[in-house]
Amino acid sequence: MHKTDVLIIGGGVAGMTLAIKIAMQRSDLSITVATKTIKEESNTRYAQGGVASVWDHDVDSYKKHIEDTLDAGDGLCVEEIVRIVVEEGPERVKEIIEWGTRFDKNKAGNYDLGMEGGHSEYRILHYKDLTGAEIQRAINEKAASYSNIKILENFYAINLLTQHHLGRNITRLNNDIECYGAYMMDKDHKEIETWQAKVTVLATGGAGQIYRNTTNPTIATGDGVAMFYRAKGRIANMEFVQFHPTALYNPAGENPDFLVSEAVRGFGAILRTKDGKEFMQKYDDRLSLAPRDIVARAIDNEMKVRGDEYVFLDCTHLDKKGFIAHFPTIHEKCMSLGIDPMKDFIPVVPACHYMCGGILTDEMGRTSIKNLYSAGECTCTGLHGANRLASNSLLEGLVFAHRINEDVQNVIDQISFIDGIPKWDAQGTTEPNEMVLITQSWKELKEIMSSYVGIVRTDVRIKRAMDRLYLLYSETEELYNSSILSPQLCELRNLITIGYLVTKSAQSRKESRGLHFNTDYPDQFEYLETTIM
Ligand code: FAD
Ligand code: SIN
Repeated sequence: MHKTDVLIIGGGVAGMTLAIKIAMQRSDLSITVATKTIKEESNTRYAQGGVASVWDHDVDSYKKHIEDTLDAGDGLCVEEIVRIVVEEGPERVKEIIEWGTRFDKNKAGNYDLGMEGGHSEYRILHYKDLTGAEIQRAINEKAASYSNIKILENFYAINLLTQHHLGRNITRLNNDIECYGAYMMDKDHKEIETWQAKVTVLATGGAGQIYRNTTNPTIATGDGVAMFYRAKGRIANMEFVQFHPTALYNPAGENPDFLVSEAVRGFGAILRTKDGKEFMQKYDDRLSLAPRDIVARAIDNEMKVRGDEYVFLDCTHLDKKGFIAHFPTIHEKCMSLGIDPMKDFIPVVPACHYMCGGILTDEMGRTSIKNLYSAGECTCTGLHGANRLASNSLLEGLVFAHRINEDVQNVIDQISFIDGIPKWDAQGTTEPNEMVLITQSWKELKEIMSSYVGIVRTDVRIKRAMDRLYLLYSETEELYNSSILSPQLCELRNLITIGYLVTKSAQSRKESRGLHFNTDYPDQFEYLETTIM
């Protein structure tokens, strides 16, 4: 049995920033950050475009950033949360700059603000096309300077501890569920440990691995949302899965798909069909820089109508020096595949990129389970509504890390550890002797979700997905109950739960809005509804 005052599951932008914030204020609290692989690996690390933040008040304003976010969210954003994130965001960005994060500057010494789809002004701070890696580096270094932050690498959280583990029957109707920490696997020693905490935080990131094509790294398996759902917490808006319009066409099947940042379109690149023709004028006045749901659907439609496997991104007219300075990684990746972006069109396809839904939280990051907070991509704070505005995610993580710290400081001294939490019980389980059962089911899940619950949905496809998911669920539960656990089996189980939550939520929304497009219901409801599960 291990005890820590604060257990943060996840060390990306949200989790690591929160750990720093708590440590800055209270050196007497023990703070443990668990990461399932190494502390450098996260969705955060892959962020390219940057952090959206109102910087130049002569040209930009909070009002414009709020309007752009609401417009992208297609009616479902919580306006108060949008206001909080937009208005508090710049202060939070200044903090990470003070901690050592570098953002590119122009010749005049001002921040070089980028442009992305759905933004009406240049407001994206970035570090080349490596913004996330730079932020992760800076916050990891800052966290390392606090002796009361302990970072556990190769630690895999399996389940949250609640009254269920004290023998009480808990249902989704209970309003008094409490969290006491988590069971976590020390992957290096293959042991499952009990970690008790006064306050637990889920900051486990995305779940892109439910689809065949995704920009998310292999760690993005939706563990936090699945754990929280099993603990009977409240989840929202899982049908809104964001597909990024321009992942590099990937016939070799690399996992993850390499992203060609939206900032490249912000820099002037143009989408074209395979025969070189522009097509976005048929879909939106903002052309290649319309919000993501619109551009991804337009590309999907062009590919289907024409029977093409990709469309092109044309950068050939752009300034070579400027392009390489802004996008060195993208340039290098293309060149390594024999594509010279200055001479050749880049083949691109949409790929699963971001979960707009997740653990429902309030304005302080509190969840429906007591003493359990959540921040970052695994949440549904209300900021993104039915479609996230580009580069609002890192910002959301920073703002909610700050707010959770404020709330934790108010409550933590009134919370005590409890007695009676049992050790992990592995009795009656045996080593699984066929890994293929896990790897094959994972592939099947990706096929089901990609074929039936992708960018364009229909009732028949959704029903088919549900039927097939049920079979996968039953088989995997059987395996889970009889096997000595491995992270791969737990991840598969979590991904199936995420697949179910996305599909069930899609089934219940009988309209098309934002990222959820069902051709059986092309219109929008006259009223606004959040999907709660
Ligand atoms: P993550 O950064 O994903 O961190 C998750 C953490 O949880 C990791 O430390 C992981 O090890 C840990 N974890 C997960 N499960 C477990 C478990 N079971 N046990 C223990 N630990 C666990 N957003 C922007 O705003 N701007 C951008 O330019 C941008 N570009 C992007 C480009 C790409 C290619 C991708 C994939 C995303 C991009 N995004 C961008 C989205 C953004 O990067 C993410 O939404 C954000 O970084 C998520 O941060 P997070 O802290 O919530 O989670
Ligand atoms: C990108 O650089 O295109 C990704 C930005 C984001 O997902 O917010």
